[in-house]
Amino acid sequence: MKIISVTNRKGGVGKTTTAINIATAMAAIGKKVALFDLDPQGNATTSLGINKKDIEYSSYDVLINDADIQSALQKTLVPEFFIVPATADLAAAEIELINKEKREWILKNALKNLEGKFDYILIDCPPSLNLLTVNALVASDSVIVPLQCEFLALEGLTDLIKNIERVRKSFNQNLKIQGIVLTMFDRRNNLSFMVENDVRAYFGDLVYQTVIPRSVRISEAPSHGKPIMIYDFKSVGAQSYISLAKEVLTREGEI
Ligand SMILES: Nc1ncnc2c1ncn2[C@@H]1O[C@H](COP(=O)(O)OP(=O)(O)OP(=O)(O)O)[C@@H](O)[C@H]1O
Ligand SMILES: [Mg+2]
Repeated sequence: MKIISVTNRKGGVGKTTTAINIATAMAAIGKKVALFDLDPQGNATTSLGINKKDIEYSSYDVLINDADIQSALQKTLVPEFFIVPATADLAAAEIELINKEKREWILKNALKNLEGKFDYILIDCPPSLNLLTVNALVASDSVIVPLQCEFLALEGLTDLIKNIERVRKSFNQNLKIQGIVLTMFDRRNNLSFMVENDVRAYFGDLVYQTVIPRSVRISEAPSHGKPIMIYDFKSVGAQSYISLAKEVLTREGEI
């Protein structure tokens, strides 16, 4: 079982979209996948069509109330793809975790109960560097960092990398950067090309070859409660997420 966090402290860069669609593509080729929604906004949960009223146990209950993670798992409409949904309660967890023993390890310990049941766990992180995100980094084998091809794309990235190094030093020596993915690339905008050049020059092979285009279809999919791959399989957005997932699996030695 491999655990991968999708993280960037900057908001709205495509973390949730990337987590959902990599998970869907993995499940489509027969991997057993669970997505842990670690964001109080619960965007992954709603984007997968889960009604907040139908949530019995959420990621909050798993982290704070010792609920068994297996009882919090919910099916998505993609076979082999499950989610631990998030509710707004989770916002309080940032503070409630502070007084817990081994507070950085809570998520890692909770995920142990899924060992042997899944091939991949993806964690959708909130846009911050708080204790929730530290829990995600401590629990993970690697991180995927989406970068939006816009002005200030690299803003906050130094902090994220410092945080990854701090977690490596204190908690999780083996934490790797799986890769950096450029998102919302707009061919009509020179800035997108400039950002791509800069990011590739700086991070080299860490950057996936696949670039996710800005696409109206991708932005529509969540309101239909579906991953883009199911909402519009033939769209360039869906196809680019399939190609990204292939790269991720290649780096995991699966392909
Ligand atoms: N490639 C894309 N093209 C067009 N719209 C996109 C694309 N990727 C994501 N979006 C849209 O942009 C918004 C932000 O994306 P998303 O929620 O995935 O980012 P995020 O990093 O998870 O945000 P947050 O930091 O708030 O959790 C959403 O409305 C999403 O549907
Ligand atoms: Mg998000």
